[in-house]
Amino acid sequence: MSEQTAQQVNDAGHLVIGGADSVALAQKFGTPLVAYDVSAIRQQIRRFKKVFESNQVNYAVSYASKAFATVGMFQLVNQEGAHIDVVSGGELYTAIKAGFPMHKVSFHGNNKSREELEMAVDHHIGVVILDNFYEIQLLSEILLEKHQQMKVMLRLTPGVSAHTHKYDQTGQEDSKFGFDIQSGQAQEALQQVMSNPNMEPIGIHAHIGSQIFEVNGFVMAANKLVDLAAEWQAHFGFETQILNVGGGFGIRYTKADEPLAPEAFVDAIVKAVQKRVSEKGLKMPAIWIEPGRSIAGPAGYSLYTIGSRKDVPGIQPYVTVDGGMGDNIRPALYQAEYEAVLANHANEKPVETVRIAGKYCESGDILIQNQALPKSQPGDLLVLNATGAYGYAMASNYNRNPRPAVVFVENGHAKQIVRRESYEDLVRLDERFV
Ligand SMILES: Cc1ncc(COP(=O)(O)O)c(C=O)c1O
Repeated sequence: MSEQTAQQVNDAGHLVIGGADSVALAQKFGTPLVAYDVSAIRQQIRRFKKVFESNQVNYAVSYASKAFATVGMFQLVNQEGAHIDVVSGGELYTAIKAGFPMHKVSFHGNNKSREELEMAVDHHIGVVILDNFYEIQLLSEILLEKHQQMKVMLRLTPGVSAHTHKYDQTGQEDSKFGFDIQSGQAQEALQQVMSNPNMEPIGIHAHIGSQIFEVNGFVMAANKLVDLAAEWQAHFGFETQILNVGGGFGIRYTKADEPLAPEAFVDAIVKAVQKRVSEKGLKMPAIWIEPGRSIAGPAGYSLYTIGSRKDVPGIQPYVTVDGGMGDNIRPALYQAEYEAVLANHANEKPVETVRIAGKYCESGDILIQNQALPKSQPGDLLVLNATGAYGYAMASNYNRNPRPAVVFVENGHAKQIVRRESYEDLVRLDERFV
């Protein structure tokens, strides 16, 4: 089951986002602008949830907020009844500001600071996902000092690497994340946690990678987790309540990508766990997943105004937009690919293939290397698709460019959820030297 995506174009020939005319959005909020189709986010969360529900499995869909973490996004995710995972004090703080239910927050990260862990304890978050021995020690000290208890999971490296871009692989043994199973470190971590009266181990976790297009890796990791759960129950009497198989479900950035539907991933994971659990004679645990990209990515669009153009005979033209690596570093960072639409002439046929360049002072600031476009002019609106994950989240102020505004669009109605940075914002933290 592969995912289909269709773009909507209105009678004026303008790209439609969340029921709104993209040209009108650009006029109202300015560019560069990030616009999210809210119903696409809702649908995606609901689709993940529905598969668990129809299989009658206890579950949590925990949105990996690193993909896009703002107050408005957390509120939307909460409306849909999902959990979140955070990886920093800043993401946790954003969740607190959003009024997100703290018992639905998981805290990830391979080097959580004392301050971050104290914040997690003080706000009674749902679970800390322990990553290393130093963290077990740190959390143990904090719980002792504060006379508090904390639910914990262990992040494990199951030795499964997903078929994807190598920078995205985190499940293999040689990874900075998690406890290694092979060498016995995971087992040692479990024993430390079990002997700590202030920690309650509730589950085990593995995240095998990102932008994954097949179910095999998830099935292998799920099987490994069940096998380990069976072993740990037999040896240590530890009954795993939760198997957390992480995120990484791939999405369509370009026509070359053929992602599976959320249903296909979840169904395969659920079936694999059910089968293995019954073979091992275990009680069926809850299954948690942590989709980030697949929730925020397809729903997001980056709106840019076209400006200058460079044509040199024999060389592919450069068409430059008013944003670039500052609002989307993925192409420059790891050659991520996107597709764009000339949104104010969305029905027109392409007449040339161009490079879409950003405005930043780096030769590598090219958003798209080969984009077929109709004839374009300065002032036209160019929209990049599927930029909702790890785009704004990784945005910077390089060249002292303000970060774009972000709007949520639903049923044709747009609401600004992050205002555009001003020049004043840019110097807000600066102190005078003289
Ligand atoms: C532990 C963990 N969970 C979930 C995710 C989300 O992955 P994705 O956005 O590809 O779904 C990540 C991404 O790095 C991760 O490290």
